[in-house]
Amino acid sequence: MFETLKYLVGSAGASGYGSKSTAEQVTENSYDLHSKTAIITGATSGIGAETARVLAKRGARLVLPARNLKAAEDARARILSENPDADIIVMGLDLSSLNSVRNFVSEFESLNLPLNLLIDFDPTRAYALSKLAIVLHTKEVAQRLKQMEANVTVNCVHPGVVRTRLTREREGMVTDIAFFLTSKLLKTIPQAAATTCYVATHSALVNATGKYFSDCNEASTSKLGSNSTEAARLWTASEIMVSRGSKAVFDPLTSALDYDHQKSSSNKRKE
Ligand SMILES: NC(=O)c1ccc[n+]([C@@H]2O[C@H](COP(=O)([O-])OP(=O)(O)OC[C@H]3O[C@@H](n4cnc5c(N)ncnc54)[C@H](OP(=O)(O)O)[C@@H]3O)[C@@H](O)[C@H]2O)c1
Repeated sequence: MFETLKYLVGSAGASGYGSKSTAEQVTENSYDLHSKTAIITGATSGIGAETARVLAKRGARLVLPARNLKAAEDARARILSENPDADIIVMGLDLSSLNSVRNFVSEFESLNLPLNLLIDFDPTRAYALSKLAIVLHTKEVAQRLKQMEANVTVNCVHPGVVRTRLTREREGMVTDIAFFLTSKLLKTIPQAAATTCYVATHSALVNATGKYFSDCNEASTSKLGSNSTEAARLWTASEIMVSRGSKAVFDPLTSALDYDHQKSSSNKRKE
């Protein structure tokens, strides 16, 4: 109850920001982004577009990978109309295809640019599970990077609820009513982009890693989201899928590739 009231009022948390802070406000005193390169996926609309606009305003060089190059060029043009000096590179990437991801990585590497910020807005259909996976992955990647003593931090954010093109496949009266009834809880797009921009740019978080942020403040995840065994198992499953293709079968009981299943399916295919 108290948390809901705090949210509705927009009162500031320990960071000095809250649910009503906007991306522009939280980056006003950010460290200098002029030497920084940020890859931002999903920047053609919604929260990603606002994040890209604000980081360009603060001086970052942007790489905008998109499956729809026309939409990405339009996004680039919109940012340039506000910041004519912005340095923005548009590249092809379909996040639903591992091959496309690999091609994007090698094209990006060929540019010989540093990668200082990777901001990934990847909407998928299996919504809740994909968000849990992001939380678990963040924890596992952070842990591994720490062990490697890599100077890389990784965090995840909950932007809050905002009406964007995310609901485009469910547009209609029911969606309109749902948004109307929850309108007091909705954020604007500049508010929804604030937590991402805060985590990406604030000097207080230079060493923060493996954390979860909401309303521009560190927050607790669900019990499952902080389960390190699940995080490790998800990592193993992902490694298998990335190295052997998405049709590889992961056995959650043994945390190993199910060769018998693969063999029997391939035998069935031969029959
Ligand atoms: N809106 C909310 O209330 C809310 C709440 C919690 C979390 N989120 C998360 O915030 C992120 C951004 O959401 P949003 O509300 O800003 O949604 P949005 O307006 O629908 O934007 C989604 C972006 O992702 C891009 N995209 C979708 N599938 C892609 C693919 N296969 N390959 C490359 N790009 C792809 C879209 O590009 P196209 O131009 O090609 O469509 C678009 O730029 C998502 O991860 C969403 O789950 C949103």
